[in-house]
Amino acid sequence: MSKGKFYITTPIYYPSGNPHIGHCYTTVACDSIARYKRMQGYDVMFLTGTDEHGIKIEQKAKEMGISPKEYVDNIVEIFKKLWKYMNVDYDRYIRTTDDYHVEAVQKIFKELYDRGYIYKGEYSGNYCTPCESFWTNSQLDENKCCPECHRPVKEAKEEAYFMKMAPFADRLEKLLTETDYLRPKTRALELVNNFIKPGLEDLCVSRNSFKWGIPVPFDQDHVVYVWVDALSNYITALGYDNDAYNDFNKFWPADVHMVAKDIMRFHAITWPTILMALDLPLPKHLAVHGWITFNGAKMSKSLGNVVDPFVLGERYGADAIRYHILREMALGSDSSFSNEVMINRINTDLANDLGNLVARTVAMVEKYFGGVIPNEREEGEFDSELISEATNLRDKVDEYIDKTQLNIALEEIFKVVSRANKYIDETKPWILGKDETKKARLASVLYNLLETIRICATLLSAFMPTTMPKIFEQIGADSETATYDNAASFGVLPQNVKVVKGAVIFPRIDTEKEIEELNAIISENEKKAKKALEQAEAKATQPPEGIAVIGIEDFAKIELKTAKILECEPVKKSKKLLKLVLDNGDGSTRTVASGISEYYKPDELIGHTVIVVSNLKPAKLCGVESQGMILAADCPDGGVKVVFVDDIPAGSKVR
Ligand code: MSP
Repeated sequence: MSKGKFYITTPIYYPSGNPHIGHCYTTVACDSIARYKRMQGYDVMFLTGTDEHGIKIEQKAKEMGISPKEYVDNIVEIFKKLWKYMNVDYDRYIRTTDDYHVEAVQKIFKELYDRGYIYKGEYSGNYCTPCESFWTNSQLDENKCCPECHRPVKEAKEEAYFMKMAPFADRLEKLLTETDYLRPKTRALELVNNFIKPGLEDLCVSRNSFKWGIPVPFDQDHVVYVWVDALSNYITALGYDNDAYNDFNKFWPADVHMVAKDIMRFHAITWPTILMALDLPLPKHLAVHGWITFNGAKMSKSLGNVVDPFVLGERYGADAIRYHILREMALGSDSSFSNEVMINRINTDLANDLGNLVARTVAMVEKYFGGVIPNEREEGEFDSELISEATNLRDKVDEYIDKTQLNIALEEIFKVVSRANKYIDETKPWILGKDETKKARLASVLYNLLETIRICATLLSAFMPTTMPKIFEQIGADSETATYDNAASFGVLPQNVKVVKGAVIFPRIDTEKEIEELNAIISENEKKAKKALEQAEAKATQPPEGIAVIGIEDFAKIELKTAKILECEPVKKSKKLLKLVLDNGDGSTRTVASGISEYYKPDELIGHTVIVVSNLKPAKLCGVESQGMILAADCPDGGVKVVFVDDIPAGSKVR
């Protein structure tokens, strides 16, 4: 029977580049909690996804010559591949470009407006024209320039919608100071002192300088601020204000939102404010962790210090990586990633402590009893201590899972693993094995070890879901015995349990060789990133690529003329080209091949007047001799629109 519902979320990731080990932390942590809760009998909803709007995505797509949607589609695939690779078992994946989300965000925005919390005003600040972005003073770089492209900014104003924050200040302060919402609490006090006490500023909730976002439903010149769009995912993914799902009443409020410290403010202030304004219940907990850093810096693509989870997983297995990042990160602090520490942890905890415990125990059952524990038993010294530590473990892990302190949960499990290894040293089964009269005692010792392994591996299966089933197989446990319900009891495996020797579960790593190879990969990445940065800086001081400054005499070389489309049909050998026959306005016609068949059907073009580059050298395209080119615009939403000039007679010169 279900113990109730449990709803846990990761942030939705920004697909501005490939995911790295820093992104893995939150997702793997939430996956482990979700798996544990499922094992406990909760009805779990584990949500993750991608946050796909915003000017940066629009710009990146433009640089690559593809639409923003095409751009994000590619990266989302890599995110999904990584989660599969890391054995992340989410229940739902939301993309903010999903229709149902777009529709729901528009309704939410309208609802906030209708309730009087959103009003129209003016946004002013430091504006970077090439990036089309506003920056606050504290966001500017050390030269007071744009933090993205490092070019000068100017004071500018823009019409925008704002959300009133003041009506919620008291309730927010209480939420942060008097409840257990934000963990760790020290961070809550920081927020209250820095943002609430000095007076909350109204939040700018729309932008009108770019298009790649969700249009404000009642003012199409504006798109919804990307954080309002993104935060709403936690409820739209359940079906709030949309018909795609029907889980809102069942799962809301969230039990845990887990995020890293850089986005804590949005989740501790902006999100509760939106929910209060909508009159919705607040989430129960916000767990904030630090960053995985590399040599003291946040991992970032531009520094080249990104540790590629695919590369690590390929070398050591996804479970070893999961274990390492979960074990190293203490809630609230940063965790410094180092290849040395990772390899030492894998060797010490996984290969030596856990791997050897399983291998030695199974090998002894085979050696002394042919693989099957006999029925005779003799209790002895040290048994009760081991048994009580093993059977008390589940309660401790429950407690730390509930506090989202996964590193401590793992520490507790590995204490019991160490206790079991110590038990082998204390009971000396290799000496018992030499004495025929000690067989019953030996049987007890080995059975106690198998039981301790069963308990530890059951609790660990939420953290390392790929390898624990291999341990169950070796120790003779199965889906009936290796369960959460059995994880606080001893004597669950059959008395004459049969073990099966298998492959080494966590092979030892040759530390020196591996570190050398990994360091070589990192320094190669750093070199590439440095070069990319230098190129970007050089580019920033030049006019944008492909747009050379030309004189009027250069422009005069281009002849632009209007022409009317008489006929239009797809080019048989091509997926993209349409063949157009144009009336030049002087009694002659010309044929032009244009790559617009994705955007227009022939009927939508016939009869319109267009602008042609009429002195372009003819070229053969898929068998069609094209005599010129018609003008079309790349629109910010990724579409292409032909420039129609229907009110100008064919044959007019354009200048
Ligand atoms: N799109 C927003 C989140 C919206 S949630 C409604 C965003 N995306 S992000 O991709 O930039 O970051 C997602 C999460 O990954 C953040 O919590 C961020 O701090 C975290 N991490 C990114 N790099 C990280 C590390 N190196 N270490 C740990 N977490 C890291 O912010």
